[in-house]
Amino acid sequence: MSEAGWQQLQFETDDGHVEALEDWLFEQGAVAVTLEDNADEPLLEPGPGETPMWQKVRLSALFDEGVDLTPVLDSVPSGWVTATAGAPVHVPDQDWERAWMDNFHPMQMGSRLWICPSWLAPPEPDAVNVLLDPGLAFGTGTHPTTAMCLTALDRLITPDMTVVDYGCGTGILAIAGLKLGARCALGVDNDPQALTASHQNAERNGISPSRFTVVAPDSAEVSEWEGAADCVVANILAGPLSELAPRLLALLKPEGHLLLAGLLADQADALIERYQPHIRLSVMSQVEEWVLLEGRLAT
Ligand SMILES: C[S@@+](CC[C@H](N)C(=O)[O-])C[C@H]1O[C@@H](n2cnc3c(N)ncnc32)[C@H](O)[C@@H]1O
Repeated sequence: MSEAGWQQLQFETDDGHVEALEDWLFEQGAVAVTLEDNADEPLLEPGPGETPMWQKVRLSALFDEGVDLTPVLDSVPSGWVTATAGAPVHVPDQDWERAWMDNFHPMQMGSRLWICPSWLAPPEPDAVNVLLDPGLAFGTGTHPTTAMCLTALDRLITPDMTVVDYGCGTGILAIAGLKLGARCALGVDNDPQALTASHQNAERNGISPSRFTVVAPDSAEVSEWEGAADCVVANILAGPLSELAPRLLALLKPEGHLLLAGLLADQADALIERYQPHIRLSVMSQVEEWVLLEGRLAT
């Protein structure tokens, strides 16, 4: 007897037909449809509510075992697919949530800090442990950009500092700063799910709401923090980091530290130049193609 699971059909299509093909497959009984880039075309991080699409798309549709897929294969509307599917492929069932959790392990960042999945006991109970459940937000420490920011915070944060985490996602950087000794922190994100995840992770780590404010970018609290941050860390992307330059600089105290991540090595020079009139940034670390920029505001 074969292992429990699903039948999968794969199609190649383009951005003009993907939505119609997806709807049609659901009408034929598909229980799930996933889309993948079919031409190695990177998509930059979308804003909330935006759904960017690759030009060439590989679409996979899952059907229950036992469904006869011959009529589906025989009636795919012509012109919607650039390459037809072969025979259905058996895909074994998996506990997807479990599979994801199994891949998230405790990680040491720098000399003091550990990031630990909230469902495991920290391996070093006396270390500075951040307990994390990402929910739907970005930021577990497994991405090189987050890891570089955490390692820098481990080195930089001293007691009583004030920290802004701009683009906070799960809140991982702000919470790490607070657990490393910062007095208070501001988390800012334009995605409501990130604000929820940050609140939940702060609670998980016993951070009192009076020490950690989490808000959307248009909140009045952001202006109230102007000139108040000993450290501003922003792990977004080169484009938003460039647009946000006046805002991030305004948040810093004189001699405050600025950490910028989310940019690729070949984007560093342009971003350094963008911030140059106000702060001298330099590449502090690189992992794969990602770099971390760091600098200190003049007095
Ligand atoms: C790459 S994630 C970083 C999350 C976390 N700070 C980390 O280091 O793992 C970038 C976050 O920035 C947010 N973001 C993107 N553009 C933004 C903007 N213009 N203002 C505020 N947040 C933004 C996204 O919603 C996302 O949660």
